[in-house]
Amino acid sequence: MSEKQRDTLLVNAGRRKKYTQGSVNSVIQRASSLVFDTVEAKKQATRNRAKGELFYGRRGTLTHFSLQEAMCELEGGVGCALFPCGAAAVANTILAFVEQGDEVLMTNTAYEPSQDFCSKILAKLGVTTRWFDPLIGADIERLVQPNTKVVFLESPGSITMEVHDVPAIVTAVRRKAPDAIIMIDNTWAAGVLFKALDFGIDISIQAGTKYLIGHSDGMAGTAVSNARCWDTLRENAYLMGQMLDADTAYMTSRGLRTLGVRLRQHHESSLKIAEWLASHPQVERVNHPALPGSKGHEFWKRDFTGSSGLFSFVLKKRLNDDEMSRYLDHFSLFSMAYSWGGFESLILANQPEHIAAIRPEGSPDFTGTLIRLHIGLEDVNDLMDDLAAGFARIV
Ligand SMILES: Cc1ncc(COP(=O)(O)O)c(C=O)c1O
Repeated sequence: MSEKQRDTLLVNAGRRKKYTQGSVNSVIQRASSLVFDTVEAKKQATRNRAKGELFYGRRGTLTHFSLQEAMCELEGGVGCALFPCGAAAVANTILAFVEQGDEVLMTNTAYEPSQDFCSKILAKLGVTTRWFDPLIGADIERLVQPNTKVVFLESPGSITMEVHDVPAIVTAVRRKAPDAIIMIDNTWAAGVLFKALDFGIDISIQAGTKYLIGHSDGMAGTAVSNARCWDTLRENAYLMGQMLDADTAYMTSRGLRTLGVRLRQHHESSLKIAEWLASHPQVERVNHPALPGSKGHEFWKRDFTGSSGLFSFVLKKRLNDDEMSRYLDHFSLFSMAYSWGGFESLILANQPEHIAAIRPEGSPDFTGTLIRLHIGLEDVNDLMDDLAAGFARIV
């Protein structure tokens, strides 16, 4: 899909008259009870169970249906389950497909709470997890067992930003375990820079909290599914009581309308800063999927249509506590915060041992302090000035 088509789709997806009712955006329909005029109408709604029709608040209102339709159009799925945050989307999507005795294969670069869900919650239910290196490619075949039920990808990987060879992984998994469900945390690509379902992945999950909402003022989770997984995912999310409130569903839809232009700016600014950092004397390495030399860059180039604003770099030196405060406490444009994907720039630091602690069966290959940046929509030269002042504080 060309960028123009993507932008046009982002502006229009889910904005059917049925949902907008004369306004530009979808209506906000807040409801627990949805009323039926006749016995026949109630029967029909009960049979249909909210497949595009009003039934019960937890099954969604017009506001939710509009967002769900938009997400399916954007990501090429047949259904989209909505959750109150990204972590709920990850946990409930995995949970929908496993039972006692099953195994999950998960990249060891998955977002830490996704890993913890497997090692702390699934373990109690008798579901085991095995971890793989994000660059494993076709070699994943040797890890796939008869009881492998879910293969969980995240690309690029959390904090260290490795990009998977998805086609090689999908082909290898399908060869050995055709029934295994392959899912991906596709938050970095906002679901549109990497069209996961086109690559044979069953379910594309996003923390809508990040780029979809895009303004750091709400939390949402989405899981867009292909036909083979949709009924199971939908029913499981319903039985687990998962839904998003109508106001946040509206904010998520509204965020979609500017996602195309925001992503273009995140791409341009983050790459310019990444290139500048790559030749900086205090920097050991830059982990930005769109930068040649970054791990899995060739797969990004082949499979993605752009970059978002999150990446990391490794300093040549390991900052001690004093240096850490001197460096991080005085940025004027970069704030310290755990989330990302909004219009504002953010910075966080990780020591190698912190990364080691969240890389089961893997170990970091660097010794300096790792800095994660989210490049927002500020003027890129202002951002570079702010970063340059930070380097001067730790020479
Ligand atoms: C890659 C990734 N997935 C999922 C999540 C969880 O999203 P939420 O904070 O909406 O639960 C995050 C949050 O930082 C994330 O970075």
